Amino acid sequence: MPPVSILFAAWALAAAALNGVHAWVTVYSQQPLGAYSTSSATSTAPGTIYTGLAVYDPLVLNPPPIPSPPPATQFGITVQNNAANVVGMSIPLNGNFYGFSIEMSVVTQVLGLNASFLQVPFLNLMSQLASRVGSVHIRIGGNTQDYATIVPSLADGKAIEKQQIPSGNPTDTPTLLMTPEILYILSNVSSLVDVKWYLGIPLNDTTNLRLQIAEYGESILGNNLLGLQVGNEPDLYARHGHRPSTYGPYDYFGEFGQVALALENDHGVSVSNNLIGPSVATGDWRPEDVWDTGFISAYTNNLLALSVEHYPDDNCAALYQGFGTPKDPQAEFANFLVHSSGRNAIAYLLNSTAIAQQAGKPFIMFETNTASCGGFPGISDSFGAALWALDYGLQMAYSNISHALLHVGGQNVYYNPFTPPPTNQSTYHQWTIGPIFYSVMAVAEALGPTNTAQIIDLFASNNSDQTPGYAIYENGSLARVALFNYMTDPSGANDYVATISMADAAVPAQVQVKYLLAPSVGEHYNITWANQTFGGQFGADGRLQGTEYIQTVNCDTSSNGCQIRVPAPGFALVFLTNNALKESTPTSTATFSTTAYTKTINTASVDVSALATSNGRSGKDAQLGSTSHGSSGAGRAAGVYPSMAGLAVVLVAVTTVMKVISR
Ligand SMILES: *[C@@H]1O[C@H](CO)[C@@H](O)[C@H](O)[C@H]1NC(C)=O
Ligand SMILES: *[C@@H]1O[C@H](CO)[C@@H](O)[C@H](O)[C@H]1NC(C)=O
Ligand SMILES: *[C@@H]1O[C@H](CO)[C@@H](O)[C@H](O)[C@H]1NC(C)=O
Ligand SMILES: *[C@@H]1O[C@H](CO)[C@@H](O)[C@H](O)[C@H]1NC(C)=O
Ligand SMILES: *[C@@H]1O[C@H](CO)[C@@H](O)[C@H](O)[C@H]1NC(C)=O
Ligand SMILES: *[C@@H]1O[C@H](CO)[C@@H](O)[C@H](O)[C@H]1NC(C)=O
Ligand SMILES: *[C@@H]1O[C@H](CO)[C@@H](O)[C@H](O)[C@H]1NC(C)=O
Ligand SMILES: *[C@@H]1O[C@H](CO)[C@@H](O)[C@H](O)[C@H]1NC(C)=O
Ligand SMILES: *[C@@H]1O[C@H](CO)[C@@H](O)[C@H](O)[C@H]1NC(C)=O
Ligand SMILES: *[C@@H]1O[C@H](CO)[C@@H](O)[C@H](O)[C@H]1NC(C)=O
Repeated sequence: MPPVSILFAAWALAAAALNGVHAWVTVYSQQPLGAYSTSSATSTAPGTIYTGLAVYDPLVLNPPPIPSPPPATQFGITVQNNAANVVGMSIPLNGNFYGFSIEMSVVTQVLGLNASFLQVPFLNLMSQLASRVGSVHIRIGGNTQDYATIVPSLADGKAIEKQQIPSGNPTDTPTLLMTPEILYILSNVSSLVDVKWYLGIPLNDTTNLRLQIAEYGESILGNNLLGLQVGNEPDLYARHGHRPSTYGPYDYFGEFGQVALALENDHGVSVSNNLIGPSVATGDWRPEDVWDTGFISAYTNNLLALSVEHYPDDNCAALYQGFGTPKDPQAEFANFLVHSSGRNAIAYLLNSTAIAQQAGKPFIMFETNTASCGGFPGISDSFGAALWALDYGLQMAYSNISHALLHVGGQNVYYNPFTPPPTNQSTYHQWTIGPIFYSVMAVAEALGPTNTAQIIDLFASNNSDQTPGYAIYENGSLARVALFNYMTDPSGANDYVATISMADAAVPAQVQVKYLLAPSVGEHYNITWANQTFGGQFGADGRLQGTEYIQTVNCDTSSNGCQIRVPAPGFALVFLTNNALKESTPTSTATFSTTAYTKTINTASVDVSALATSNGRSGKDAQLGSTSHGSSGAGRAAGVYPSMAGLAVVLVAVTTVMKVISR
């Protein structure tokens, strides 16, 4: 019998086909086709088919051509030093703005098999961020959360398992069984690095609520539990067959209330004011459809934050036959390499972030990344995506979103910020850091740890799409300026020089600059932040490698200008004050060492018993296939309608895939 995950995949595709829209299909356990043969790709010979794991796909795309006429290579940026002189600035924010969303079913692969066997590279990566901004926010949840059940124990001491559905009914969703050990894993991570957690409450059946995750979560995680998500993409429940077709925003309103009431009456839970909703996929409902039910005022005492989940693009057609013509990554690449990309992706949320402010609630982008259905080869894993995610993050910050969580899947996606090695290679290979992890680092340093960062889009160089910039204020004064160059031109002719001057103050005598650099927007691994890197494929243990280099630029105080060069491609973070630089440049970062070859552990500063090497996991858990690929609003207007004939092909394809993965 095929594993239930496959049945579910087939079902999800069938449901999508029947409903005539493809963009939000949720698929478990699929393998990527990986069959790109983009003729313009530089590293893959024409016609070459890559059939390995998505995360290691070598496809390198060409940078888009320089626009004609080219953007200005010299321009001035006049900023105010005093925040009080600036109109339109964001709400105060923290550099832990970007966090991560980890699908519940891949927790043991990314964090560790059990609470005494944690992934050291993961700890090191989180430590990099925590040493800059204090703490890291991580959401454990996703599509599998609604069907999750806590059980006392599982066979072989496993902490998590997907249960097959005996009936084989393809409209059932796999049950995710997990033991409280999962929460001890999170707790032990938090005891080593300041990571705080969001958890999802299962919502598949509100007449029989399963609140154990809230109960165990609160008692095991204590203050490290930030909040509980109620419902994951409820606007897609009807389409996915998880609710009757009539299910609407008022039904969600009612179910949220049932959970809130049940938690208030649950003696195992002391806190019921930490709920998060509605987490709509902005697919079948607009966020406003939920606000219009009176959701915010009715539950203001229960709501910690308001949330949505949104991917600006999708790559579903490349993975599944019957969904129309796959998008060509090379053609799609240019869409990501402009400032308007991030701006357009969230323009529809400005009304909601204003509503959230009026209600005194933070607004969280609970799950996002480059594109749903795993992202695009050559895009999601490129330096271009790093620039895009950095700009998108700062744009979300400027738009008064309080936090955004980048989704982390298995090895079958292109967009991971970090990926553990395939289990069968783990005794000699290490982690692979995705370009967007550098974006998280740079956003952390741009906003700093003081909770006072306010950011404004500079509409630099007459609102150039290729050379945007932001100014960031802390404690009410200008702290940093962030400058992007999306173009690629190794000749240097499209590097630009921005001259920063202040309207209400004199520029300092010197500023410091950290660069995020790579030779091309197509680059996968040769990426540096202040001249340091996390390494190439299988090359990371989560610590920065190489010598840090921060450039000092002397300003012209008589003409009130600091000239900052920004290479094509590149990003420059300009520190206007020593405090701003000091905050973003930790003198020490706790690290957790491991040696792949000898498996010795250097645990100078941590409890030895709590650590193990990141390597040497048993082969049993080899599949990293069970992951959410998220959903996208990109296809909202133009859904592709696969025919029933197409559907039959899809089912055959899925059956074939099943043979591949159900070893
Ligand atoms: C944790 O996992 C490791 C690796 O599989 C195993 O050796 C160890 O016994 C496990 N510890 C517990 C407490 O289950
Ligand atoms: C909800 O999910 C649980 C765990 O997967 C399952 O046992 C139960 O039958 C589901 N209920 C409904 C109504 O889908
Ligand atoms: C870490 O995990 C071990 C094994 O579950 C447990 O005994 C220990 O109490 C945990 N430590 C913390 C700080 O949670
Ligand atoms: C913002 O949302 C509110 C609540 O749904 C709605 O009444 C209002 O028309 C919206 N405004 C805009 C500009 O969309
Ligand atoms: C963000 O919020 C501030 C303060 O309310 C407001 O002035 C600003 O216009 C908002 N920004 C956007 C892009 O909506
Ligand atoms: C490891 O697993 C991958 C994916 O299942 C497979 O393609 C590869 O051949 C395996 N490698 C080894 C060395 O067994
Ligand atoms: C700025 O951009 C606008 C709109 O693209 C254009 O009309 C205007 O001429 C530009 N101004 C300068 C100084 O380049
Ligand atoms: C890495 O990129 C830098 C530019 O960012 C370039 O100078 C260097 O030669 C590249 N190294 C390799 C090995 O490609
Ligand atoms: C950048 O890092 C490389 C490798 O660690 C090192 O050789 C080089 O000296 C560094 N550059 C600067 C300017 O410090
Ligand atoms: C902001 O103020 C805090 C507290 O006084 C201080 O620690 C921090 O360095 C300041 N940051 C900047 C960028 O001025």
